[in-house]
Amino acid sequence: MSDRDTGLSALEAIYSRRAVRSYKGPPLDRETVLALLDAAVQAPTAVHEEPWAFTVVQDRGMLRNLSDSAKSAFGEQMRNLPPGQRLRLQHRLDTPDFNIFYDAGTLVVIWAKPMGPFVAADCWLAAQNLMLAACAKGLGTCVIGFAVGALNTPEWKAHLGVPAEWTAIAPIIVGAPAGSTPPVPRKKPEIVSWR
Ligand SMILES: Cc1cc2nc3c(=O)[nH]c(=O)nc-3n(C[C@H](O)[C@H](O)[C@H](O)COP(=O)(O)O)c2cc1C
Repeated sequence: MSDRDTGLSALEAIYSRRAVRSYKGPPLDRETVLALLDAAVQAPTAVHEEPWAFTVVQDRGMLRNLSDSAKSAFGEQMRNLPPGQRLRLQHRLDTPDFNIFYDAGTLVVIWAKPMGPFVAADCWLAAQNLMLAACAKGLGTCVIGFAVGALNTPEWKAHLGVPAEWTAIAPIIVGAPAGSTPPVPRKKPEIVSWR
């Protein structure tokens, strides 16, 4: 167990992970990022394809530019959202200082190399492993779906050295949480049948 491990059990990590939207301190060190990526690739993967690849962004200026690009790309996609969701998001997008990465110092993007029927599932399973491992290390994470549109543009793929045919699936910010995040209640599992 490394110094950063909290000793949380798998179940404790599942129940205590939260979408963290406030961060403090410097970007994660290399060793911690590598440990999180190693946890990510322990995820189950269809036909053992391991179809994922990762980019790590810690350059603050690049994160800010990506946030700005994502805000304009997302503005166009919003037309297809239900009105309630659109209103909630519009408010944030209209705030010029709003950084979609909440000033976190590290962004990990999980990319699908080929696209296939189970590739997105593989990448999301890797994403959940990464988030639970981060939680077990006392770190906060949040999926930033907002960033997907910008990441999948030819310009951002080129900035990040990513081949044009790859697809950004899961952008996840990671860092030391600035405070505690209260749990968000869940509906009970809807069991439709149990025969
Ligand atoms: C696919 C996906 C996309 C998400 N995109 C965003 C996002 O762009 N910005 C954000 O603040 N949270 C985002 N979230 C986090 C959710 O809002 C959060 O998980 C949800 O409110 C439940 O809170 P919890 O994770 O603390 O239980 C995203 C979560 C998922 C799974």
